[in-house]
Amino acid sequence: MSNPSGAGNAQAKQPGPNSKDPAGQAVAPLQAVGTIPKTTALMTQSIKKTTTSASLYDEARTLIPGGASSILRWASYEPYPIYIDRGMGPRVVDVDGNEYLDYLLCFGAMINGHSHPRVVQAIKDQAERGTMFGTPVELEVKLARKFLQMVKTSESVIFGSNGTDATSNAIRIARAATGKDMILKFEGHYHGQHDYAMISVEAPPSVAGLEEYPRPLPYSAGIPSLVLDTVIVSPWNNLRAFERIMKRHRNEVAAIIMEPIMSNSGVIPPNPDYLKSVKEIATQNDALLIFDEVVTGFRVSPGGAQELYGVTPDLSTWGKALGGGVAISAVSGKKEFMELIGPGKVSYGGTYFANSLSLAGALANLELLSENDNHAFKILKDLTNRFMSELPKIAERARHEVCIQGVPGMFSLFFTKQKKIMNYRESLLIDWNKYKLFSQILLEKGIYLHPDDYERIALSTVHTVDDLEMTLVAFEEAFRELHDRHVN
Ligand SMILES: Cc1ncc(COP(=O)(O)O)c(C=O)c1O
Repeated sequence: MSNPSGAGNAQAKQPGPNSKDPAGQAVAPLQAVGTIPKTTALMTQSIKKTTTSASLYDEARTLIPGGASSILRWASYEPYPIYIDRGMGPRVVDVDGNEYLDYLLCFGAMINGHSHPRVVQAIKDQAERGTMFGTPVELEVKLARKFLQMVKTSESVIFGSNGTDATSNAIRIARAATGKDMILKFEGHYHGQHDYAMISVEAPPSVAGLEEYPRPLPYSAGIPSLVLDTVIVSPWNNLRAFERIMKRHRNEVAAIIMEPIMSNSGVIPPNPDYLKSVKEIATQNDALLIFDEVVTGFRVSPGGAQELYGVTPDLSTWGKALGGGVAISAVSGKKEFMELIGPGKVSYGGTYFANSLSLAGALANLELLSENDNHAFKILKDLTNRFMSELPKIAERARHEVCIQGVPGMFSLFFTKQKKIMNYRESLLIDWNKYKLFSQILLEKGIYLHPDDYERIALSTVHTVDDLEMTLVAFEEAFRELHDRHVN
C-alpha cells in the first residue's frame, strides 16, 4: 500500500479494441510462448486523449475531498487519474474510449478479470431474487463450504465486507482469546484503515528509529496516542530482531499480524523458514499468529500463502480475490478461536456482511478458480514465471538496473541497484519517480499499472499469452523511452 495519509512518499494503491473475447475464456490452458512480436495491435493504438478524465477530475475535486473516495485512486497520479468506464476480461476502457491491458485489477481483486460472464450471471440472478435480507441465507453456507474446501488449513470461516473489517475483527478475537492487549505488526505491512493497523505502514527512517527496533508511528492524523501504546513494530524477514522484540515484550503480545508475503511495499517473499520460525516463537509466547491474506488469498495458491509455504496460522484474513469484484471479506481459522464469536463473547456483525449479492458473486468466483483441479492457479503461476524471466533480459537490453521479484499471480519491478529487496527499509532504496514515469509511458501505450511502485503488478486468469507478449513489447519500448524522459 502506500500512502493514504499523505505522509511519507505520497504514494498510493489501484489498462485496444481486440479480436479476443477474454471474459469468456475462463481458464484456457497456456500455450507454449513463442518469440516476442516486433509490433502489436496494442502498440499502434496509443492513447489519444484523456480530456474527459481531466474535466471529471476537476469537478470531482470540488465535490469529494481529493477527488475520489480512496486516496489511492488519485494520490500518485499526475496530472490526474484516468476515469475508467468499463472493463472486460483483462482490459479496461476509459471515459474517452482508450483501452488498456489492466495490471492493477482493482488492487488484485479482479482475479478472473472484469465482467466475467459467470460472475455477472450469478450477480444478475441474485439481484432479481433480492440483494440482501438481514437473515442467514443458503448461499452463505455454500460459500463457507467452498471456502473451507479450498483453504484446508482453516476449520471455520465467517464473512464480512472488506479487508479492514476482517483484520480488525481478527485482532479483536486474538485479544479476547489471550486476555492481552498488545499487537505486534511489521514495518511496511498494511492491514487496512482501522487505527490498530495504521501504524508504521510507511515510516521515514529519520523518525522511525533503529531498523532493528522500529518506533511505532501513526500513518494517519487522528489516531489516538493510546493506540500507539498497544502496538509493537518489528522489522519483517529479520528473525533475530523479531526474537529480541518478543523477548522484551514477553507474555504481553496477544497477536502477531503479518502479510505472509509482503505485498504493500512491493512484493517481498519471506525468507526460507521465516514464517515457520515466527510461528514457533508466537506459540512459545502464547500469542496468536494472524496471516493477513487479503492480497495473497485466492491468488498465490488455492489456500493462500499458508498453503504455499506450509505454515498454518491461528487466524487468517481474506478479501480482494475472494470476491473477484464483489464486496466481501472473511476471517477464518481454528475453531477454538473462531467459536469465541457470539453473544456476550466477541461481537461480530455488519448490515452489509455476507449480503446475498456478494455471496453470489464470490461463490461464482471461487467456483471458477477451483474448477478443473484448480487449473486457474497454474495459469497465474505460468504467466508470472514468464513475465519474471523475460523482464530482466528486456531491462538489461535497455540498460536499466532493475530488481524483479514476485510470487505466483503478482510481482514487482523495482528500479534499484539492489539485487533483492527483503523488507521495508530496503524498499526505500528503489527509485519511485522513475517507476512513476515508467508507468506513465506505459499508460500511453495502453498498459495500466498503478503509478506507485509499492503496488503490485497483478495478473488474472484471463490474461493470455498474447496479452503478455504485447505487454513485454510495450515494456521494452517504455524502458528505451525512459532514457530520454527520466532525469536522475
Ligand atoms: C494486506 C492487506 N490487508 C488488508 C487490506 C484492507 O482491505 P480493504 O481495502 O478491503 O479494506 C489491504 C488493502 O489493500 C491489504 O493489502
